[in-house]
Amino acid sequence: MKNKGLILITGATGYIGSHTVVELINAGYDVVGVDNFYNSTAKVLDGIKKIVGFNIKFEEIDCSDYKAFENVFVKYPDIVGAIHFAACKAVGESIEKPLLYYRNNIVSLLNLIDLINKKAKQPNIVFSSSCTVYGQPAKKYLPIPETAPLIKSPSPYGKSKQMAEDILSDSIVAFPKLKVCALRYFNPIGAHPTAYIGELPNGVPMNLVPFITQTAAGIRDHLNVFGDDYNTPDGSCIRDYIYVVDLAKAHVKALDKLLGEESAAEKTVVKKTVVAKDSPYPAAEASGRWFVYNLGTGKGLSVLQLVKGFIKATGVKLNYVIAPRRTGDVEQVWADPSKAKKELGWKAATPIGEVLKSAWKWQQTLPKQ
Ligand code: WQD
Repeated sequence: MKNKGLILITGATGYIGSHTVVELINAGYDVVGVDNFYNSTAKVLDGIKKIVGFNIKFEEIDCSDYKAFENVFVKYPDIVGAIHFAACKAVGESIEKPLLYYRNNIVSLLNLIDLINKKAKQPNIVFSSSCTVYGQPAKKYLPIPETAPLIKSPSPYGKSKQMAEDILSDSIVAFPKLKVCALRYFNPIGAHPTAYIGELPNGVPMNLVPFITQTAAGIRDHLNVFGDDYNTPDGSCIRDYIYVVDLAKAHVKALDKLLGEESAAEKTVVKKTVVAKDSPYPAAEASGRWFVYNLGTGKGLSVLQLVKGFIKATGVKLNYVIAPRRTGDVEQVWADPSKAKKELGWKAATPIGEVLKSAWKWQQTLPKQ
C-alpha cells in the first residue's frame, strides 16, 4: 500500500495514542511517536510491535521542552501532519495541580503549533479534545451537537482543553496553511482485540471501566457507583461510552480529510464555508481549514447499565455498592455524532458487549498489582 505520509503522534504510548498508532499504520500511514512516559511505559511500544510487526520510529521527549521537540522535526523533515494526544488528563488531579496541567497541556501545544508551521512539510494538526468543553449541557442540547454552547469547565483539565481549542482556532487565522481538526471525545473504553495494548491507569483508576475490570479481577474489593439519585431513569449518571479502536479509526479519517482537503487558500474558487450561528470560532470556520467533530456512539448508557452490561457480557461477578455522588460529575451527556458520519464517513460501530469483553480480556493480561 502507498505510504500516505509521515505523521507525528505525541503521547504515542498513551491509551488512545497507542491504539491510533496501530490504526494509522493499518491505513498506510508512516508514523513517528513521541512520549515522555509521564502516564505510560515503554512496554506499550512492545505491544504495538506485536500488533504491527515492527518497531515504530519513536523519540522519548517532553513536548513542553521546545529544543527537544524541535530536534524531532529536524530529524524527521517529512512530517505532513500531527495528532496531538500528549497532555495530562485526570480531572481530579488537575484541581490539585493546576500549574502542572496548564504548563504541560498548553506549552506542549504552543510548541507543536510553532514547530509544525516552521519545520514540517505540511502543517496539519488533529487535536485530542474532549466533551468536557460542553460541561453539563441543557437537556435541549442532548444528544449534543458541535454547535452546542461551550460552558467554562470547572476543572483546569477541562479549561486547558477549551484554551487549546481557542489557541488552535486563533492560529488558523495567523498561519494561512495550517489546518486543524479538533476531535471531542466522549468516554473512550475497551482495549485492542489482541489484548497487546489497552488502558494502563496509574495507581487507583479514576475512570469507570478500569475500576470495573480491576474489581472483577479481585484487585479492588468493590466498585463504588457514585450516586443513584440523579435525574436519570435509574438514578445513575449517563455517558457515551465509545470503543477506543473505533475512536482511533476516527483519527485516520480526520487526517485523510486534512491531507485531502484543499484549504480555502489553495482553492482557485474559494468555497463559501458556512459559519455556524453563534460559532465560538467564526474566523477559523470561515477559513475552511478548521473542523470540529463529536466522537461518540450517539447512545447514552448509565453507570448501572454499564455495570450490568459488563456482568452479562463476561459472566463475571462484580461487587458494587451505591456510594455518594462524586464532586464535579456531569449528570448526563452523550453525543450527536451525525456530523462526523456525514463529513468523515465515520461511525462507532462496535457493540458495547464486545467492547466490555475486550476490556476484561486486557485486564486478565495485567499483573494482580
Ligand atoms: C464515568 C461515570 C462517574 C468511577 C472522563 C474523563 C474526561 C473525559 C471523559 C477525555 C461517572 C462514574 C466512575 C467509579 C463511578 N475524557 N464512576 N465509579 O468523569 O465521564 O470523564 O471521560 O477527555 O477527561 O475524566 O469518566 O469514567 O471517570 O466516570 O460510579 O469508580 O462513572 O461518576 O458518572 P468521566 P469516568
